[in-house]
Amino acid sequence: MTLWGGRFSQKVDDMAWMLNSSLPVDQRMALQDVEGSLAWANGLHGAGILSDAERDAIVHGLNLVKQEFSSGEFIFVPSDEDIHTAVERRLTELIGAPAGKLHTGRSRNDQVATDFRLWMLSAIPQLDSALMKVQSALIEQAEKAGETIMPGYTHLQRAQPILLAHWWLSHFHPLQRDRARLKDLTARVSILPLGCGALAGTPVDVNRAALAESLGFEQAAPNSLDAVSDRDFAAEFLFCATMIGIHLSKLSEQLVLYTSAEFGFFELSDAYSTGSSLMQQKKNPDMFELTRGKAGTLLGMLTGLLATLKGLPSTYDKDLQEDKAPVFAATDTLLVMLPVIAGAISTITPKPERMRAAIDSTMMATDLADYLVGKGIPFRETHAIAGKAVRAAIEKKIGMEQMSLAEYQALCPAFEADVYQVFDPMESIKRRNAIGGTSPESVKLQLDGVKRLLSFEKS
Ligand code: ARG
Repeated sequence: MTLWGGRFSQKVDDMAWMLNSSLPVDQRMALQDVEGSLAWANGLHGAGILSDAERDAIVHGLNLVKQEFSSGEFIFVPSDEDIHTAVERRLTELIGAPAGKLHTGRSRNDQVATDFRLWMLSAIPQLDSALMKVQSALIEQAEKAGETIMPGYTHLQRAQPILLAHWWLSHFHPLQRDRARLKDLTARVSILPLGCGALAGTPVDVNRAALAESLGFEQAAPNSLDAVSDRDFAAEFLFCATMIGIHLSKLSEQLVLYTSAEFGFFELSDAYSTGSSLMQQKKNPDMFELTRGKAGTLLGMLTGLLATLKGLPSTYDKDLQEDKAPVFAATDTLLVMLPVIAGAISTITPKPERMRAAIDSTMMATDLADYLVGKGIPFRETHAIAGKAVRAAIEKKIGMEQMSLAEYQALCPAFEADVYQVFDPMESIKRRNAIGGTSPESVKLQLDGVKRLLSFEKS
């Protein structure tokens, strides 16, 4: 049974049927489809289209269908074109005639958009809590790091010393923004298309505001043409997913580098690394590499859907059937990736000696310039003087702290014996004490702030 045989005299070609069928993808929305149908049955009853007995029969039947899905007993048949067809077909088998009234004033166009939005409303909190667990792992590591010092990079060149805790927390905030984005998106997902019919609205005298409320939506879509057409929420969701992927990719790329023998800043736990089938010594950071790789796949899903949407006129076009697969796949990807990343972060071991050894005195060149600023010399001049000091040290193949006071004074008479203090990386770190800086005091404030934020959100 299809939902539309009447005007056709020939059967659909087998391959065409395969191309058309969306059941393999949209059967994931089975429970949402039943939920939407339960609400619609009540709407039809309120509008006087279903008698009490008919409404009760449909509700009873839909609950049986729901049970069959929950217990895994539901059996699909080859003619089930999509999940909407399957549910109605089974309902008819279970309760007979009254099932035939359920689709009154409804189209699969408003139905599918409703199911999809309901599905997304349940996926977002799952992503949120998985993101929170990554954030907790970052906080935990930041706390454990204490005052461990590491080199900070720009252009992947040694730049200035920073606290390891500051670095860990730099990966907390992007995830906080990702969570805020998902929360913000929720308001735009929570708009009910049901009761918009195929495109022009429903002739059924249904209270759509009440319908929206009964399904947990914030509002009923105000324009039927837009309601069956709008997939902004799916594109936005994929953008959110991609941004999460890119943030985790950035962290992963750093950890791939930092766990290499050349950096040696961290040691991976065995539980989150893999070996080589050939080279016995290998301990590969596959989880971080896969995360980096999957960020690209997520981006592909986003651009794929945007490309689909770009060519479409309003309202419903069958191209829109392509919307669900990437959203489901992106969700599945993240719900595996996020717990793995949380575990890999929690179990990674920092190597403070290696981090400390990677800091050389030229990384305090800015501090040298700032030292002269403290002696009243304009920064533009001190920048050039500190630059000459760097060059002199490089030419002599010695550390900047090994140059004599006389050599410094030859570059600028304002240098005094206290100049050597600037080459202590912890002194450099301590000086960056404004909000957001890397000083222990600033980082402590930051850590307290994010801990308070997270425990507030958890409660
Ligand atoms: N399987 C379709 C989809 O996912 C459902 C809506 C079909 N509507 C229609 N008029 N054929 O978009």
